[in-house]
Amino acid sequence: MERKPFIAGNWKMNMTAESGAKLIKELAPLVKDADCDVALCVPAILIPAMTEAAKGTNIAIGAENMHWEPKGAYTGEISADMLKEYGVKYVIIGHSERRQYFGETDETVNKRTKAVLAAGMTPIMCIGETLEQREGGITEEVLSKQLGTDLAGVEDVTKVVIAYEPVWAIGTGRTATDEQAQETIAFIRKKIGELFCPKCAEKVIIQYGGSMNAGNCKGLMAQPDIDGGLIGGASLKLDFATIVNYNK
Ligand code: PGA
Repeated sequence: MERKPFIAGNWKMNMTAESGAKLIKELAPLVKDADCDVALCVPAILIPAMTEAAKGTNIAIGAENMHWEPKGAYTGEISADMLKEYGVKYVIIGHSERRQYFGETDETVNKRTKAVLAAGMTPIMCIGETLEQREGGITEEVLSKQLGTDLAGVEDVTKVVIAYEPVWAIGTGRTATDEQAQETIAFIRKKIGELFCPKCAEKVIIQYGGSMNAGNCKGLMAQPDIDGGLIGGASLKLDFATIVNYNK
């Protein structure tokens, strides 16, 4: 089963319209011949300027979050229509930083994921265990629970991109080994097969995220179940192009 690899950046709360546009201009010629899909998920306020900067390139612009309601009294939130107005294709949902610092739960991740799908965009839905959970031997249990709740009621799971991001590997410089990432992502695929159907699971793009960089991307991308990466720190510099060109 052919799955097209997908490398996405997650700028988090970094860059400005000026520095972001400069980076996109520098990245564009370096990633233009990529064999994978390429996206940069950026702070909401930067979406208009980054969309403009990425015009005519193969870099899609994504968002870092989205509310599940179409509109209303939700101060500080962003709606699907606001994103779609700028041609946003991808929305990161349930990043561990949102779960850890902003009260995101599996229930709200589920609502957001379904809203992104209903709006015709692609959620990059993040799941992952903490160090304590990995060391406690409950990684599979944690991921199963996240998948079960986060994907509940999703009609077509093949339209969801899953990002497996072990919390202990995010921003720490401590990457999962190729084997750890492969083993866990294979488990996630198996679990999706059980929750939906094995054939659907074979079509789902599953990314690895957590200190993925120019040095370790080749080994991770060589794993049969790893279809891409969600890149934080390394997406703020030209290293992102090296990751996108992991197979060159
Ligand atoms: P990192 O972040 O690459 O800086 O570890 C990844 C992420 O949080 O998506």
